[in-house]
Amino acid sequence: MKNNPIGIFDSGVGGLSVFSELVKLLPNEHYIYYGDTANLPYGDKTQARLVEITGNIFDFFKQKNVKAVVMACNTTSAMTYDTLKDNYNFKIYPIVQIVSKQIALKNYKTAGVFATKATIGSHAYKKEIQKYNDNCTVFEQACPDWVNIVENNLQEDERSIKQVKSDLDIMLTNNPEKIILGCTHYPYLMSVLTKYAPKDMFINPAEYFAKYIAEDLKNNDLLSNKPHKEPEFFVSANPKQFINASKLFYTIRNVCEIATGAAV
Ligand code: DGL
Repeated sequence: MKNNPIGIFDSGVGGLSVFSELVKLLPNEHYIYYGDTANLPYGDKTQARLVEITGNIFDFFKQKNVKAVVMACNTTSAMTYDTLKDNYNFKIYPIVQIVSKQIALKNYKTAGVFATKATIGSHAYKKEIQKYNDNCTVFEQACPDWVNIVENNLQEDERSIKQVKSDLDIMLTNNPEKIILGCTHYPYLMSVLTKYAPKDMFINPAEYFAKYIAEDLKNNDLLSNKPHKEPEFFVSANPKQFINASKLFYTIRNVCEIATGAAV
């Protein structure tokens, strides 16, 4: 089992912000990344649809005999993890639940969360953080345009910069101690965000998340003891666009387009 692959997925390139941290910590693992680009964006989908989509991706990973699945997607962690977590015999790591606990333990008095419409609507970050620290005031804000900016590689576009700045300005009126980038696509916008607010104000949950996964696999004697295999990348649509948009976090050479049940 320990030498089986690790599955990792997101709606698109966002999950690569997590993948790049995992590779640094666990270079010997065999990773299978699935970018569900045919169903992008997840943030405006219903819970029922997201459960169907995530179930199909888990089935895909089951066929690949993975030892664990990394939900490198806040939206599906918030909306589908509770429903699906007991249906599979591999380990499942949901980003929101794992990271919120660690952030709560930092004892911040206030924290902002930027995330998709679905994640914000679920209040998952607020609930999970306040479960461990009810003294933390959490300001939640959806940024529905950001995923498309990242997937289309438009970070430097004038309109994108304006949009990101105007969303950030709204959050800054709350004067939060930290701002959690609660969608794995958002760290791709760090260069824009840090034009208008200090870098250390932002929390990229990928770092906390990868550390937790590495520890947990180790504690469960699930770390690979064989030499590293090349990661495999799958998308459900637009492989060229995926390669283009991914560059900030990982250089991908080959992507296989695969129509799993995940694609509509
Ligand atoms: N990157 C994902 C997340 O962390 C999904 C974004 C989307 O497709 O809307 O929520």
